[in-house]
Amino acid sequence: MQDNINSIVKTKDGSNTLFSQKYNQHYHNPDDGAINETLSKHIIPTFQYHKAKDELIILDICFGIGYNTFTTLYYVKKANLNKKITIYSPELDANLISSLETFNFPKEFEDIKHIIKEVAMNKKYEDENIKIEVNIGDAREYIKTLEQQSFDIIYQDAFSSDVNTELWTKEYFDDIFKLCNKDCVMSTYSVATPIRLSMNEAGFFIYEYRPEKRKITLATKEKKDILGKFINMDLKRERNKQAKAIYD
Ligand SMILES: C[S@@+](CC[C@H](N)C(=O)[O-])C[C@H]1O[C@@H](n2cnc3c(N)ncnc32)[C@H](O)[C@@H]1O
Repeated sequence: MQDNINSIVKTKDGSNTLFSQKYNQHYHNPDDGAINETLSKHIIPTFQYHKAKDELIILDICFGIGYNTFTTLYYVKKANLNKKITIYSPELDANLISSLETFNFPKEFEDIKHIIKEVAMNKKYEDENIKIEVNIGDAREYIKTLEQQSFDIIYQDAFSSDVNTELWTKEYFDDIFKLCNKDCVMSTYSVATPIRLSMNEAGFFIYEYRPEKRKITLATKEKKDILGKFINMDLKRERNKQAKAIYD
């Protein structure tokens, strides 16, 4: 797909992503690869953590080209995981979702072409093991309508905080925190201190994890030291008085 807002970019693992003129940013880091990025930064760490659970409810912030959602389905199938997956995902750009019907996705998505088509056309898909719901609208409004304490995983994958501020503030994470069940884990590519402070002020415990060359942040509602290196945010605040969370 190529329009006046987004242009196609091939990433290092061969999968295509987009460059957004509106946000002046790539949807995925071309040097990491779109599939590789979603697997290493979001899916593998959170699924490892929840390996004992046979039903997972996921919030994918935000849908974009759908790599986080579609790669989750690919991963579950490829690893032969016997899990029921429900994914809720907000997205502002209705045209982007419709355009996914003809987007040139990688060969890994060959077996889920019918799911991609249905999501592009109807913004939802359901069979006995998979449920996907894409909500066209503002994520800040949408998350207020979801059931509290029901989510196992949050993929926090908005554009960066300088251009997509509303999805990185303390008040935003307050609402996300309410959606988390007690063993929920949130994954994000961002390791910036202001973002970790926003999450921490909303109640999350912060962990640093290095799946590959780049570090990521994992955050939990309850303290779980199996996840990676615990980051003591009180100590960070004490040592760096300039560091501030982001607010609405
Ligand atoms: C970095 S991209 C997400 C990439 C996506 N996870 C993927 O794998 O393709 C960010 C997306 O968030 C959407 N977005 C930005 N602000 C939003 C908001 N307030 N509410 C809903 N969607 C938003 C943008 O339109 C864009 O598609």
